[in-house]
Amino acid sequence: MISDTNLIETVSEEAELLQTENNTEQRENQDVSDNLTSTTNNRPNQGKNVGNPPAPRRRVIGDRPRLVDRTVSEGQLLVPKKNLRQQDSEEDHPDFYEFRAKDNVMKTYWLQQTFMSWWALRSTPFAADLLPCKGGAGLTTKFLKEVLEVILEYVQGTFDRSSKILEFHHPNELRERLHLEIPDKAENLDQILQDCQNTLKYCVHTGHPRYFNQLSTGLDVISMAGEWLTAAANTNMFTYEIAPVFTLMERAILKKMREIIGYKDGDGIFAPGGAISNLYAVMCARHKYVPSCKRRGLSGAPNLVLFTSEHSHFSLRRAAAILGIGTDNVVYIDTDKRGKMSLEDLENKIQQAIARGDKPFFVNATAGTTVLGAFDPLNAVADICEKYDLWMHVDGAWGGGVLMSRKHRHKLDGIHRADSVTWNPHKLMGVLLQCSAILIKEDGILEDCNSMRAPYLFQQDKHYDVSYDTGDKTMQCGRHVDVFKFWLMWRAKGTRGFENHVNKLFELAGYLLEKLKSREGFKLVHEKPEHTNVCYWYIPPSLRAMEEGTEKQLLLHKVAPAIKARMMATGTLMVGYQPLGDKVNFFRMVFSNPAATKADVDFLLDETERLGRDL
Ligand SMILES: Cc1ncc(COP(=O)(O)O)c(C=O)c1O
Repeated sequence: MISDTNLIETVSEEAELLQTENNTEQRENQDVSDNLTSTTNNRPNQGKNVGNPPAPRRRVIGDRPRLVDRTVSEGQLLVPKKNLRQQDSEEDHPDFYEFRAKDNVMKTYWLQQTFMSWWALRSTPFAADLLPCKGGAGLTTKFLKEVLEVILEYVQGTFDRSSKILEFHHPNELRERLHLEIPDKAENLDQILQDCQNTLKYCVHTGHPRYFNQLSTGLDVISMAGEWLTAAANTNMFTYEIAPVFTLMERAILKKMREIIGYKDGDGIFAPGGAISNLYAVMCARHKYVPSCKRRGLSGAPNLVLFTSEHSHFSLRRAAAILGIGTDNVVYIDTDKRGKMSLEDLENKIQQAIARGDKPFFVNATAGTTVLGAFDPLNAVADICEKYDLWMHVDGAWGGGVLMSRKHRHKLDGIHRADSVTWNPHKLMGVLLQCSAILIKEDGILEDCNSMRAPYLFQQDKHYDVSYDTGDKTMQCGRHVDVFKFWLMWRAKGTRGFENHVNKLFELAGYLLEKLKSREGFKLVHEKPEHTNVCYWYIPPSLRAMEEGTEKQLLLHKVAPAIKARMMATGTLMVGYQPLGDKVNFFRMVFSNPAATKADVDFLLDETERLGRDL
């Protein structure tokens, strides 16, 4: 290892040597960016990561580009000639450089500068060296390209079936590996890149072809590009003033979605998820039936009651809690074997509420229930809502995407009669999270119930048409741009592309269903799912011969969680499980992943068996 004193001498000698050389012109004309892309790897922080250092390769946000950048941007006449690396090993050590000075005067300066720079070389650049720092353009480009490389590696790994879906660690262990503490002093950019790499390393690859765990799966490349661009634009949806493009896009997309539903007119907004979209629906209905609520609250108002099936999403119940309706005033409606709402029970319970002196005001019909994928009979529910003057909402968070398929959209017949619809393109349609819309039949109600007319933001005397300032009809103030990735994806696929995507998912579900019917050890929860949800039990050999009864059910209840734990430990597959009513834990396969194929379905069955046959 060279000491500091040695280094000064070494540098001086090198400088003398340089002076005698004669190819200045050529070097001076060399593009500085060449040097920016060279691979100096002087990383003082390397090895600092706790646990197993995850970085298989060294990052190249090195010290040299920083030096070159500064040298050039400050207008000095120093041009790096070449990197005299003392060794090419992976060990950390200061690299040495030759620099060509234009004249002797500069040479003196250069010596000093080089020495000082040597100290700088001991640390890699920091965020403060990036734009808007003067001269930070090159380094910023380099840094972002490095980040992109990290992301691309992740994306490629995501689609590689031989790669793991996740590297599971229990929270305590993962906390250690992640290095989560927030420092007082800035970390350098190498460390920041390392953090990026480390973060993705422990993320679940939700785009992996064998990831079926949630309703939102897959990694659409165009949608991801849209999300990147959205981040670069970094704007806020509340006013046209600062989001002119995205505001117009949102209008166009919401109009298209309303047309697909069958609304002639209406309104809508992108919301942070289906739960919030459902909250919007209940809020609009509350406003319609108790308009005074906006000012006076619910005191003195009739006791509002909402109806939803026992298989509906919990967000309806939560909406009742949030909006002051109260969870006791959520009335659950029975379902049939397939999970569809019973019309008879709905009407009975509405009548019972009226008889109690309560005020029924809202019925939620689910298009695609979360677990079984059932579609409530929308036309019949609409008839009941009309009869009793109730707001009809369709929670199509999961099933809304089925509207894109001419083959399957009949499952939502009658949806145009609903007062509001929740539709999450981030589920079945594969748009990246988050992307959820609430569509409302009546124009103006959203604005009516939410507007606060904040004069600092929604000035009415702006020089453009302020009806394009959508922020005042939302529950939020600032709002993320969720529309762009969807718009871009729709452009890239076309409506027919989305239709093919949805049809393919249904085909895969049908394929799995047929396989399950004939495969030993698997049992369907019900044989005619309406959506791409296919629910089943895996029954290990040890339980197959057992007599039906409580004891067997108790043991079967433990099978899915045990297999799931093994799935996560091996990282080969991820499928969700849950109990439902009196049914013990079963697997819920849901198809929304565009990367999945029939071979992945075969793998699912083989792997489930492999992981569970000894239980
Ligand atoms: C039927 C239904 N509605 C609403 C939601 C909530 O959607 P989000 O997770 O986007 O809030 C879900 C989520 O799974 C759902 O299945």
